[in-house]
Amino acid sequence: MSFLQRTHACGDLRAAHESQTVILNGWAHRVRDLGGLFFVDFRDRTGIVQLVFPLSRPGGEGGRGERAGDMANIRSEACLSVSGTVRMRNESTRNPKMATGDIEVEIESFSVLSPAKILPFPVSDEDQMLGVNEELRIKHRYLDIRRPKMYRTLALRAAVIRKIRAFLDERDFLEIETPIITRSTPEGARDYLVPYRIEPGKFYALPQSPQQYKQLLMVAGCERYYQIAKCFRDESQRADRQPEFTQLDLEMSFVHQEDVLSLSEDLLRQVCNEVIAEFGLPLDPIEPFARLSYDEAIHLYGCDKPDLRFGLQLFDITDEVRESEFSVFRTTAEKGGLIRGVRYPGGSGLSRKDIGELETLAKEFGAKGMATLSVEDSGEATAPESGYVSAGGLSVKGSIAKFFKPAELEAIVKKSRAEAGDLLLLIADEYMAGNNVLFRLRNEIGDRCGLRDKRKLNFCWILDFPLVEWDEATQTWSPSHHPFTAPKDEDLLYIDSDPGRIRADCYDVVCNGTEMASGSIRIHRSDVQAKIFTLLGIDPATQQERFGHILEAFQYGAPPHGGIAPGIDRLVMVLLDEENIREVMAFPKIGQGYDPLMDAPSTIDEAQWAELGLALRPAKP
Ligand code: AMO
Repeated sequence: MSFLQRTHACGDLRAAHESQTVILNGWAHRVRDLGGLFFVDFRDRTGIVQLVFPLSRPGGEGGRGERAGDMANIRSEACLSVSGTVRMRNESTRNPKMATGDIEVEIESFSVLSPAKILPFPVSDEDQMLGVNEELRIKHRYLDIRRPKMYRTLALRAAVIRKIRAFLDERDFLEIETPIITRSTPEGARDYLVPYRIEPGKFYALPQSPQQYKQLLMVAGCERYYQIAKCFRDESQRADRQPEFTQLDLEMSFVHQEDVLSLSEDLLRQVCNEVIAEFGLPLDPIEPFARLSYDEAIHLYGCDKPDLRFGLQLFDITDEVRESEFSVFRTTAEKGGLIRGVRYPGGSGLSRKDIGELETLAKEFGAKGMATLSVEDSGEATAPESGYVSAGGLSVKGSIAKFFKPAELEAIVKKSRAEAGDLLLLIADEYMAGNNVLFRLRNEIGDRCGLRDKRKLNFCWILDFPLVEWDEATQTWSPSHHPFTAPKDEDLLYIDSDPGRIRADCYDVVCNGTEMASGSIRIHRSDVQAKIFTLLGIDPATQQERFGHILEAFQYGAPPHGGIAPGIDRLVMVLLDEENIREVMAFPKIGQGYDPLMDAPSTIDEAQWAELGLALRPAKP
């Protein structure tokens, strides 16, 4: 079909174009037929402009009237080419909310390039779209992306990637692609496997990350590598996880931890600040990143992904209550557990029912129980019969208050830094079990009290992770990050005696409570790498079988090296304040990895089973 090339983009038309004849190509966004007078909001990727079809009903390419029948095909989302003259709108019909709202285009001729059926959802109505089932949206993603909001998301994502490339290209990084069908590289998830037709029974694995290749590129002398890398992980899905996602993967030789931190902090700040400015995002400029060690993060916030938009640091009252008459606290302390808590500002006003709901929530988060104390101004509740006990100018109330001496309550108030009006949520448990509950409660309080400031992206570094963690289920040490992370030199002496004590040159970037990036200085010596594999329970034969290539490569002059990998999807999520990663991907999966658009995964035909030498195992009875 022939059609005329556009002379202008819809979103660019302004009063300055008055009286000009323009040709536009795009889609009928919204159609209003006012009994003969016909308005169309006309859209291309740059924006929307109003078209007016005059009463006489113009024809198509052939001239006025000739193809009047085609008017019937100008329905929502039909693809059109139109030609007309730009006119100023009357004062009364100008629309200040639209960039093109001062003008309209009076149509002289048009052709319907492609009619549209009735749509499965109204792409021109954002309010109605809120109620549309997500699977239906993803099944028709090509329509969903016609929404200006979705197109803007993809444009912003492209800008992030473009700016990353510009930053790294300027600093002499080489963009290098690494294989997608390869062998397993462990990042803690299951692999996606691809059968090898030539030798049935052999499989490629899709990379969980390009980790080993990027290290091999350092051995190869490339010194500065990056890649916008697709990674594949078969793991349970969450709001910030997809089976297939994109990392900015980078690696540098002859660097110490500080070099990687400073380059990647500069990169993330510059890219975010430029995107915030270019897209007019309602966000403050990114501040220099705070730094916390892993131990500090756990101690102060109960987790290694703290949301630092608000304070509310956890407090520890174990010493203050170990002699108290409250048996739960006393026995927990006797057994080596801790009594820690978090402040709920303004929570003393909660009803019994509200507090009951908080307790239920704490149990959902894994608590065995939760105790509370309310703190008030002494002035408001001085009478002893009110149940308040005076504590250093404040009064403390709650079903457990009676078990504590005034001095103990005073110490609790002091340690928790409680203020009048606060509710203290207290958890008695082992250190990590208690932290697991408290960090979730802290986030809940952050939400309820509106402390998560939407204008802030609060990035921080978490440093000095433990190298390994004890895995109760398998009774082995497993890597906190991946097995290629370098132990800190000064901690290597614990490798045989106390591996849990070894800290790694390993770092995460966290933003507003989400892990954004992870990286480390790597092991570059074959003997150290083999020793760490052994610590992880991988015997020498298996080491050779799975990682022989890297153990050998490290014997040919491997340089010291390190790197990092920010998740691009997650970066776009925080920039756009999207709660689900699917909103920032063109073609995401739903559920446990299902693609409703292509209906993948799908079955294969008999011939393919045979060709691959595969058969399904009979289901277990
Ligand atoms: P890691 O496994 O921590 O490190 O991943 C780095 C970053 O990738 C993002 N990410 C994900 N995003 C979406 N969906 C997922 N399923 C998913 N998994 C991870 C996160 C995360 O911080 N090779 C190392 C990096 C290195 O050491 O250089 C690695 O892959 O933003």
